[in-house]
Amino acid sequence: MKKYKYYEFFAGAGLVTLGLRKHWDCIWANDIDPKKENTYKTNIESNNYHLSDIEKIQSKDLPIPCDMAWASFPCQDLSLAGWRSGMSGERSGTFWSFWRLIQGLNPPDRPKMIVLENVVGLLYDKDFIGLCEALSCLGMQFGALVIDGIHFVPQSRPRVFVVAVNRDMDCGPFVDPWHFNSPWISGQLEKVQSSLPQNLKDLWRWWKLPKPIEKDFSVESIIETSDLNEWNTEEQTLQLLGMMNEHNLHKVKEVQKQKKLSIGFLYKRTRNGKVQAEIRFDGIAGCLRTPSGGSSRQVVVVVENSIIKSRLLSARETARLMGVPDSFVLPSNYNEAYHAMGDGVIVPVVEWLSQHLLLPLISASNAFPLEKNHEHSAQFGISKSIRFL
Ligand SMILES: C[S@@+](CC[C@H](N)C(=O)[O-])C[C@H]1O[C@@H](n2cnc3c(N)ncnc32)[C@H](O)[C@@H]1O
Repeated sequence: MKKYKYYEFFAGAGLVTLGLRKHWDCIWANDIDPKKENTYKTNIESNNYHLSDIEKIQSKDLPIPCDMAWASFPCQDLSLAGWRSGMSGERSGTFWSFWRLIQGLNPPDRPKMIVLENVVGLLYDKDFIGLCEALSCLGMQFGALVIDGIHFVPQSRPRVFVVAVNRDMDCGPFVDPWHFNSPWISGQLEKVQSSLPQNLKDLWRWWKLPKPIEKDFSVESIIETSDLNEWNTEEQTLQLLGMMNEHNLHKVKEVQKQKKLSIGFLYKRTRNGKVQAEIRFDGIAGCLRTPSGGSSRQVVVVVENSIIKSRLLSARETARLMGVPDSFVLPSNYNEAYHAMGDGVIVPVVEWLSQHLLLPLISASNAFPLEKNHEHSAQFGISKSIRFL
């Protein structure tokens, strides 16, 4: 079966490739982090992974032709939890280096499809308008979906996927202009889309993507039962309970009453300068996050017959929460493994998007070859934010 070709910018430990590799061939990948490169190469046979800052890459370094470019660019400056400096921030601003590389390819050699993935913080301010304008300047039509990992694994992880294709293509069969009851269109996405100027609204497509059959995830399926994972001491567990407010302590007391084994996920948050422990027993882990420092690492809490035990979520459990198979070799260093997984994209989400939208779109796009010198920037004008990069 024919495999389509793609570039993977910001490839990290290779979770996107795990989701795509059945139907797609990664002909060029890049990341700046040598530890992630090591994890990637341990698990994925590749001579195409380039360890370097995206700033140092030139368009001529990219092998052509290629069908798709995927970029999960750094999210720190867009995170609602963090300090928002937006798309002009040092890390999320790497998007513009990606854009320059694609723009530097002559139209017939440019990938006909671009997928951008990031946190929902992307859907705010003028950043999103700038991003749509940048895609318009590449001669593309585009739309976005907010896919929460919760439909695929027991982890709450909403992420934005912007899918753009060559503007000449007839996308009729792939869009649903009314998108009633779509699980992938959030209120914020509708709001930011409605704030686009008319020329960008004209290029907007509400992509169709089916919803997976709801699975009843068992949280036990991600929990390691081996004794290799070290449990916290009683004092440490008490300390965590001491960081809870009444509401969270009440949740612990309620499961204690049930006299059966209950598994919960605990994470620390800083509210008004005070560190608080929050817990959930709904069978869903909170979003894996990887800011530097250890405070956001999740803790597994097991309650049985009123006994409460706690320990750090293990590296393998983080991988399972990302839909990564147990055959994937994780770094032996805990923090490295946590970063490799916590920065990644949930594998079954990538598979679902590929199977139900990207593959149908790319195979249809072959009927619409990119024309040479098909430039759109003059037609639509490039805003200041792009011109002065
Ligand atoms: C959100 S993660 C992408 C993870 C990856 N797609 C996966 O699923 O495993 C962003 C990645 O961008 C990389 N990165 C940050 N700045 C970079 C730069 N200037 N050049 C290249 N890569 C960079 C980080 O090392 C990180 O792995």
